[in-house]
Amino acid sequence: DPVSLHGQGTGHGTGQAAGAGAVSVDDLKGPTTGTPDRRYTLTAQEAKIELASGRTVDAWTFNGQIPGPELRMKQGELVEITLVNKLKDTPVSTHWHGLDVPNGEDGVAGVTQDAVQPGGTYTYRFRVKERGTFWYHSHQASSEEVQRGLFGPMVIDPAQPLRPVDQDVTVQAHTWDTSRGPVTALGTSDVLDHRTASPGQKVRLRLVNSDIVTRVFTLTGVPYKVTAIDGMDINEPGELTGRRLVTAGAGRLDVEFTMPSTPVRLAFEDAPDAGIAFSADGKGSLAPNFGGEEFDKTSYGRPASQPFGAGSTYDRKFDLVLDDWLGFYDGGFALRQTINGRVFPDAPMLMVKEGELIRVRFLNRGQEDHPMHLHGHHVLVLSHNGKPLTGSPIWQDTVLVRPGEEWEVAFKADNPGIWMDHCHNFGHAQLGMVMHVAYE
Ligand code: C2O
Ligand code: CU
Repeated sequence: DPVSLHGQGTGHGTGQAAGAGAVSVDDLKGPTTGTPDRRYTLTAQEAKIELASGRTVDAWTFNGQIPGPELRMKQGELVEITLVNKLKDTPVSTHWHGLDVPNGEDGVAGVTQDAVQPGGTYTYRFRVKERGTFWYHSHQASSEEVQRGLFGPMVIDPAQPLRPVDQDVTVQAHTWDTSRGPVTALGTSDVLDHRTASPGQKVRLRLVNSDIVTRVFTLTGVPYKVTAIDGMDINEPGELTGRRLVTAGAGRLDVEFTMPSTPVRLAFEDAPDAGIAFSADGKGSLAPNFGGEEFDKTSYGRPASQPFGAGSTYDRKFDLVLDDWLGFYDGGFALRQTINGRVFPDAPMLMVKEGELIRVRFLNRGQEDHPMHLHGHHVLVLSHNGKPLTGSPIWQDTVLVRPGEEWEVAFKADNPGIWMDHCHNFGHAQLGMVMHVAYE
């Protein structure tokens, strides 16, 4: 495939390719000394997994489970994670989606490391700056490997507990290829999952969308707050009811509520019979309501001062037009997903310098949703369709750009290296929607 970056996995040292000069990925590693506060081993291996309904998945797993184990750590800790590849013919890597780690720890096969071959191992070490809800996944042949199960949640607790909850529930929405066709589930639960929650208990839901498509979650039966988007806290979130919680592919939402004396139902639109029912006796349930207004992050919560924003002067500005392209390509009729009319590796490379403030505007002129993910940096959302945000600052690692939309975002170039910026719909990435940000 001429435009597939996911799937090469042999080109260590893309530093040269990017013209990044003397700096090589090996100079951009996490701390090599110091005793880690946490150690994890992730073993990529095959497993046959049964979903709650009895359907089976021939999965590629981390540690024999889908999703992989929840990696739990504290902000500020030094973490060491060893990847062991026990798959037969399949090279893997591991990317910490949304964590701004040093470039050499980013886990992108073909860019920041070589893919780990069957029988091989690779050790990642980094200090965790962020706190919140993140996830990890293979970044080699991502389209197939993530779909088949090589991913899991990553939860980073604050160094000091902020708002303790009685139940802290991570759910990962994913579509599995099963013995009886594709089925969308929360983890391995493709039927309604009943849980007990006593009235008055505080519940936090960490919703992770590990699918390539946009998902709509709903929470019915209780008012709630969206406390974080992509793991980043919302400033003074207000109470909501019945909203359609639109979540980008690869995006996360944290939602908190206080359990009432009546049942509460978490659901998602593409699998209305699945989800979670919370009730005092673990038996009650409630029909989901998908008919509400869409949750609007651009006016949610309250403003707070940030290191930069709409009024800042930007050192560089980039406009990126996302589009579908149908035409003659490589001797056949083909669909491509383009950035400024180009596909990887001809898509633009955004050159930046350390310390600069960068503004990027995404415009979607096509027909498909594009969850645009920048590695190694969080972007501050400046405006949507030309209108500045009026609520809480929103920091994201994955910006959903829907057809016709324009999102203006900004970031500080403070993490040298060569970073992927791509559509997290891996199908679109394979069709060309991949580019890089590189430091001069
Ligand atoms: Cu979540 Cu380039 O990845
Ligand atoms: Cu896309």
